[in-house]
Amino acid sequence: MSVVFLNDRYLPLNEAKISPLDRGFLFGDGIYELIPCYQQKMIGLDPHIERLQQGLSATKIAFNWSKQQWRELVSQLVERNNIPNVGIYIQISRGADTNRSHGYPKNITPTLFAMAQPIADFNPNTNNTRLKIKSELDRRWRRCDIKSTSLLGNLMHFDSAQTDGYDEILVHSDKNIVHEGSSSNIFVVKDNQVSTPIANQTILPGITRRLLIKQLIKSTEIQFEERNILLSEAIEADEIWITSSSRQIQPVVNLNGQPVGTGEVGDVYKNIAEEYYKTYF
Ligand code: PDD
Repeated sequence: MSVVFLNDRYLPLNEAKISPLDRGFLFGDGIYELIPCYQQKMIGLDPHIERLQQGLSATKIAFNWSKQQWRELVSQLVERNNIPNVGIYIQISRGADTNRSHGYPKNITPTLFAMAQPIADFNPNTNNTRLKIKSELDRRWRRCDIKSTSLLGNLMHFDSAQTDGYDEILVHSDKNIVHEGSSSNIFVVKDNQVSTPIANQTILPGITRRLLIKQLIKSTEIQFEERNILLSEAIEADEIWITSSSRQIQPVVNLNGQPVGTGEVGDVYKNIAEEYYKTYF
């Protein structure tokens, strides 16, 4: 039985209970993070904690743990669950009220829940994942920069992809500007030039995205830019990659049923994924 953390203690998952009046349950009124850890090594812990703290402050959820407390929680869950590759999921909801009303209630205690979930191993040298994605008009809210637990929009997009036999969605604006996936960021490559959408309120500023950008900037052979990318450019790209904490960097070989570039994993992916792996793993 996995060990989870609820409010102030570690306990077996089947003993963790919360109120049906919890605003996380009633409204999706909460913030979350997923921190990856491969063979005891945490990837991007500090930026994950910073993004969590920014989300709490943007939504006025008063939960003031220090970085050290968050670090301790993550290491404890890694240790107590002993899973080789694990995602530590942390969720803080505004807490349980005495009734259901839209206003932020005063003086309620936020609910903190955290658990460990297995994630797939990542090694670009042996990885044979090749993703197929489809594009769709983004129907989510306009604060996608907040890592909110209200994910119904993302779930509906993902379901639409799955229903049509794809692995992920690529959502775009009504002006055909590429945003991101249902749970991933997107990178496109054309003529050795790598681009990713600007981190504004239309996308989640992914931590994997941020770490990969650092790596791309270091590379002398690759040109990199954050910019508005049109869907037509993604369709004509040589390569497309997605990034997320649970999948790291994965190549996309098919968009809307058409091959991306040659339809094989590209050389720019192979090189940068290997450099990224050497740096962070
Ligand atoms: N999803 N965009 C969206 C909408 C996401 O949900 C995620 C992450 C990302 C990538 O962010 P990061 O690199 O920080 O994981 C981009 C997580 C993994 C999830 O929902 O489980």
